[in-house]
Amino acid sequence: MLFYNIVVLSVLNTVWCINLRKFPTGFKFGAATAAYQIEGAWNVSDKGVSIWDTFVHNNPGAIKNDETGDIAADSYHNWQADIDIASDIGLHFYRFSVSWPRLLPTGYVNNKSEDGKNYYNKLIDGLLAKGIEPIVTLYHWDLPQPIQDLGGWTNPLIAEYFADYANYVFSLFGDRVKIWITINEAISVCDFAYNSGILAPGIKEPIYATYLCNKHILIAHAKAYRIYEKYYRPRQHGKVSFANNLLWIEPLTPADEELAELGLQHTAGRYSHPIYSKKGGWPLSIVKVMEEYSKKQGFHSSRLPRFTNEEIQLIRGSYDFYAFNHYTTRLIRPAQPGEDIGFWFLTGSPELNAVLVADPSWP
Ligand SMILES: *[C@@H]1O[C@H](CO)[C@@H](O)[C@H](O)[C@H]1NC(C)=O
Ligand SMILES: *[C@@H]1O[C@H](CO)[C@@H](O)[C@H](O)[C@H]1NC(C)=O
Repeated sequence: MLFYNIVVLSVLNTVWCINLRKFPTGFKFGAATAAYQIEGAWNVSDKGVSIWDTFVHNNPGAIKNDETGDIAADSYHNWQADIDIASDIGLHFYRFSVSWPRLLPTGYVNNKSEDGKNYYNKLIDGLLAKGIEPIVTLYHWDLPQPIQDLGGWTNPLIAEYFADYANYVFSLFGDRVKIWITINEAISVCDFAYNSGILAPGIKEPIYATYLCNKHILIAHAKAYRIYEKYYRPRQHGKVSFANNLLWIEPLTPADEELAELGLQHTAGRYSHPIYSKKGGWPLSIVKVMEEYSKKQGFHSSRLPRFTNEEIQLIRGSYDFYAFNHYTTRLIRPAQPGEDIGFWFLTGSPELNAVLVADPSWP
């Protein structure tokens, strides 16, 4: 793995030198936001309440200075000024997310907000008028509260509710939007949220919730993809995928190479192998680790839920491109006896009995 990286780096260096570090012609630059981060207007018109609205309002101390997204950048009101800025800085594309409870106040398709629909129509038309391509994320973490009240991503029926929502969004905006991301950073929604409890919905349940969420979010994505494939792509000609959060993991010492590969399977593989591999389903190395660790904990079967063959086929191949957000890389090593391991992204993984560290020499 190290050797491979060195080769890639030297090839890239050569390319950069030859081209004076110019990006290739046709490379597109853009910017990205999420509805809860920028829209504000959490309670205007008939917008429903999301799990982030509930979380920030009901958990004093959970957010530094008890700040909220109630107003945020107020892009709900300032959308035209924001488009003008995007145009001034020369963006080729702008990625934003649709707020599910702004469009469907209770989360379900029997209750549609005219105001929500108008807001996203204005935004999309405004971007296109400036020659900026809209890229739309369907879910960037602001789940309608009534769906959370039924168990949120741990409830298998959420895949149906998400598919209905996705179908509605494609029908409204698919004539103008040609690149779609179903779910942004599922590992944050499932692992990071349920293993820590520090993100909405503020529930810490690292035993089953993390892995139920992992399974259901993949099925929800795949159902949305299949709807697009069948009913929209023939006339709208767009592309749909899923956006992973890829933490890259390297071995701390040569003895940790196998562990580094397992670490990548546990973070990236659980959210990629079912969709993008030829065989589909969970990475086999993770099935084995989860089975062994669950038994060691005293469970009779693996905490990683099984997929039916039908589910494997539904999910496998449900993509038109590979997408990821990348922030950083960590080194992995085995945990020391009695060491506090914590959870992925902050420190480590109990399942792998491993810890992530940064090399102190990195700037
Ligand atoms: C639709 O959503 C609004 C806003 O949350 C709510 O007041 C209303 O009762 C809902 N209607 C139905 C039919 O669910
Ligand atoms: C909306 O929320 C704000 C706080 O962000 C509050 O001041 C205002 O009264 C609320 N408006 C309605 C209509 O509930």
